Amino acid sequence: PRVRPPQRALPRALASLFLACCLTACAGDGGSPGAGAPGVGDPLFPNAGNGGYDVGHYGLDLAYDPASGRLSGTAAVTATATRPLRSFDLDLSGMRVDAVTVAGQGAQFSRAGTELVVRPAEPLERGERFDTVITYQGVPGVITDPDGSQEGWFRTDDGALALGEPVGSMAWFPGDDHPSDKASYDITVSVPHGLTVVSNGELAAAAARAGGRTAFHWHVAQPMATYLATVAIGHYTVTKATTGGGLPVYTAVDPRSNDPQTAAAVSRIPEIVTWESGIFGPFPFSSTGAIVAHLGDRQGGYALETQNRPVFPGNEGTPAMPVTTLVHELSHEWYGDSVTPHSWQDIWLNEGFATYAEWLWKAHEGGPTEQQSAAAAFAATANWAFAPASPTAAQLFAPPVYNRGALVLHELRRTMGDAAFFRLLRAWPAAHRHGNASTEDFTAFCAHFTAKDLNPLFTTWLYGRAKPAHI
Ligand code: ARG
Ligand code: ZN
Repeated sequence: PRVRPPQRALPRALASLFLACCLTACAGDGGSPGAGAPGVGDPLFPNAGNGGYDVGHYGLDLAYDPASGRLSGTAAVTATATRPLRSFDLDLSGMRVDAVTVAGQGAQFSRAGTELVVRPAEPLERGERFDTVITYQGVPGVITDPDGSQEGWFRTDDGALALGEPVGSMAWFPGDDHPSDKASYDITVSVPHGLTVVSNGELAAAAARAGGRTAFHWHVAQPMATYLATVAIGHYTVTKATTGGGLPVYTAVDPRSNDPQTAAAVSRIPEIVTWESGIFGPFPFSSTGAIVAHLGDRQGGYALETQNRPVFPGNEGTPAMPVTTLVHELSHEWYGDSVTPHSWQDIWLNEGFATYAEWLWKAHEGGPTEQQSAAAAFAATANWAFAPASPTAAQLFAPPVYNRGALVLHELRRTMGDAAFFRLLRAWPAAHRHGNASTEDFTAFCAHFTAKDLNPLFTTWLYGRAKPAHI
């Protein structure tokens, strides 16, 4: 569910004035039903997500044919209208839509770019809970971002891998593709016998279907942002374990990516999750693990913190899963997956914390201290290209987001002291568990952990572009 719309840039008084005018002028909210919006107002990705409803659950029932690359099936989207709706949008890139029903009745639909516009037979009332079922098929593709990187649906030699950050889930299922609308999921994918399907959450069933196929049903009980949904299809070696704390660990490794360093890292997942839980608080989800794929050069080579179990790309020639990358991605389960950015502009809240987790781990392992990691980040010119609080769409995953983001945390630690800082590290994901939060939510939250004025720190390290004279 969406907690509140990401309109952080607009001062409150102006926002309510704007809303009041809109109420009288467009009659969108109170009275007659109108069209939903094609975006939620994300400052960097204006078409991401949609306005007018809030998704509670996705039920995907899909079939994949690795030989042709064809994906087909149905997406059942359970949502609540947040205003009276005559029509609404879903995000979907490519694919062919064969039919749409709303509340069991056939609905009209049209396509425009990545918007699927649905016009139900009956308008929807504000507060009404409704099911939309989309029957669709096609060969899903990849989406190229403003920074040139790609996500979406990657075909592999024997299957496929779906990665969604920032706007890739729309490549393989219709939805409200924005981090502010989190939902539970049931993801069922059938594949030819012998292949394995790994996804988020827990495996609820793996059952034979007609035509020599097996359907894998994954259940995701805790709210998940669309960009964290994944499906990995292929020949995987599956390992099941539990952490000392009793958390189920489900790990799937493509045998071709099982280099010695990766195998060693995989075996440390329970240890790392336990260590992180000791610092960040209880693990936010009901299972963990990892997916180590084998993509050759088909994907940009980045790992992704897909909910429950992050994905590692397994490119030719490099270890598929370096241990610091594993530490980074698993830390996102708290910072990103449980407390999720309000909008894409808040991305440093993900990457800054995950980078700081790496610094903590390196110190824990007897490597550089956090102070040394901070000094190295401070020294690197690439980290000073822009302020972490205001990346453009093309800078979403650029060095300042990661390293200046971590420097903000390091400066907070130096200012408030270790005891307050480590309380903050736990309290932040606890306060927004399974929710969303913005940069301003964070800066306001920090004020509860120290009597010192943090404004100069944030002005310089978070919002300022210029490099300070010294760390
Ligand atoms: N969130 C990933 C990380 O842990 C990076 C994802 C990059 N995605 C992309 N489309 N470039 O750092
Ligand atoms: Zn990251």
